[in-house]
Formats: sequence, structure tokens, C-alpha cells
Amino acid sequence: MFDWTGRGQTPTEGPVGAGTRIRVQDVGKIYGVGSKQVEALKGVDLDIRDNEFVCMVGPSGCGKSTLLRIIADLQRPSAGEVEVTTSAAALRPSAVVFQDYSIYPWKTVKDNVKFGLLAQNLPKAEVEDRVSRWLDKLSLTAFADHYPSQLSGGMRQRVAIARAMVVESEILLMDEPFAALDAQLRRVLQEELLDLWQDMRRTVLFITHNLDEAILLGDRVVVMSGRPGRVIGDYEVPFGRPRNAEIRGSADFAALEQELWHQLRHEVDDGAAARAEVA
Ligand SMILES: Nc1ncnc2c1ncn2[C@@H]1O[C@H](COP(=O)(O)OP(=O)(O)OP(=O)(O)O)[C@@H](O)[C@H]1O
Ligand SMILES: [Mg+2]
Repeated sequence: MFDWTGRGQTPTEGPVGAGTRIRVQDVGKIYGVGSKQVEALKGVDLDIRDNEFVCMVGPSGCGKSTLLRIIADLQRPSAGEVEVTTSAAALRPSAVVFQDYSIYPWKTVKDNVKFGLLAQNLPKAEVEDRVSRWLDKLSLTAFADHYPSQLSGGMRQRVAIARAMVVESEILLMDEPFAALDAQLRRVLQEELLDLWQDMRRTVLFITHNLDEAILLGDRVVVMSGRPGRVIGDYEVPFGRPRNAEIRGSADFAALEQELWHQLRHEVDDGAAARAEVA
């Protein structure tokens, strides 16, 4: 499911141009009660600066999606604080592409994208203009009147991204947006997102299991521990902007991928061991 409305968010409004910022301080999240309790997050600290693209990796079940929903103000943390600062001009602080992305099957591509703007009360002309601009940017113009069932998986995913982008919020939260795609298509969409973002910067938190994707897209890669998740690594990506997919071939790329994997591997192994114990 999507949320592109930023509903319920109460961002701290800074003056225009002061920049966007996400500050997560000592955040914890416990689900359930009694013996059914699951501690998803514990002591998470994370700071995302204006126009920074931060990728987050971590073992399955470590609380990444939970953290993203807390930042989007769709869930409350059990402990700690999240402060989201956007400029005073921001109508919607954030837009979200969820892990199990879905678009409405009964709406056309165009209406799905338009739906992202419903809550904003924009003049009709502006709505039409923005929708056609984002359909164009995501190569969907020719499919504007198609229904999702008539599209490939990659195109549906583009619709999902267009619906979040059309909001033109200062913060974009993306939860494994390419996970359902095959390897080739995933590469195409990664490169498209790279170009799109370099063209039109936003503050982004992007969750992925794919280390290669994290390095290609991110300014920083944050590594989470196994559950309860907390930040155990924070790496600057040593490639400037604009960059392209050719950086994949460099020694620095391979070295960072290796380092991330080294750190993550312990967490994944520990998680597997813990699950084996429970079984
Ligand atoms: N609504 C919920 N109620 C109870 N437990 C939940 C709920 N949502 C998540 N959890 C639990 O919290 C933990 C973290 O879940 P979360 O979905 O945030 O992990 P994740 O890092 O996004 O995993 P994945 O990489 O598989 O997407 C898991 O153990 C999960 O079962
Ligand atoms: Mg998740």
C-alpha cells in the first residue's frame, strides 16, 4: 500500500531554504504485549541531511520498514523521537513507496498517478500539468489510459514511483521499491532513479537488501543490526554526482560492497542461528 499524503505529519517548519532534515533519536519500537512481544527497534539514531540520498540495508525482520513508517508518521515509536524538518513552503513533507507496492487495479495509469495529488487541493490545471510531467519522466505517457493489468511488472512499479514523485514532497521514503523486479529490469529502474534524482534532488531514505543498489544510488549506506534493529554502520559512498552505473566496475565500489557484506554477514548469520534455536 501507498501513503503519499503525509497525513498526520506535524513537521517542524523551518524558513524556506533552511533545508530538510530527518533526525531519529534513540528510537525503539515494541510490537504486541506479554509473551507475544517483539522488540523491532532499539536505540536507533539516524540523521539525514538536506538532499541526501541515504540507503539502508539490514537483515530481514530487523525493523527497516518499521523505521520508515515511524519516519512517515504512520506509526508511533515506543521510545525516542523523530524530528522531520521541511521548508515552510512544503505542502506535504513526505511521500512513500511501500515495500508491497500496490496501485489501484480499477484506475487507469493516469488516475493512479493523479490520486497522489487528491489531498492537496491544487488547481485542476496544475494537477494535469504535474501528472503529465511525471508520466512523461517515467516513460508512461503512451500508457496513460491503460489499466495496471495491461502493464508489465516494471511499468507498474514506474506507476508506483510516479504516484509518489508527483507529490513533489521534499522527502521521499522508499521501501525496497525494486525488490519484485527481475535483475535486468531492476538495473534499468535503478539507473532511471539515479538520473531522476540527480535531476531533481530530494531527501531520500531508500531501503534495500541489495548492496550494489545501495552503493550505486546512495550518498551514504546505513547498516542495521539484526532484531532489535539499530544502526551499526554508516558509510559514505566515495563517488560524487552526477554519477552513472559505470562506477560499478571500479575497485572502490567493490571494496565498499565487500566491507558492507562483511558487516552484514554477521547479522544475517546471527539471525539464522537464532531462528534455528527457536525451531
Ligand atoms: N504490525 C506489526 N505487528 C506485530 N509485529 C510486527 C508488525 N510489523 C512488523 N512486526 C515485526 O517487527 C519486526 C520488524 O519488522 P519489519 O517489517 O519492520 O522488518 P524489515 O526489516 O522491514 O524486514 P524485511 O527486510 O523482511 O522487509 C518483525 O519481527 C515483524 O514480524
Ligand atoms: Mg521491510
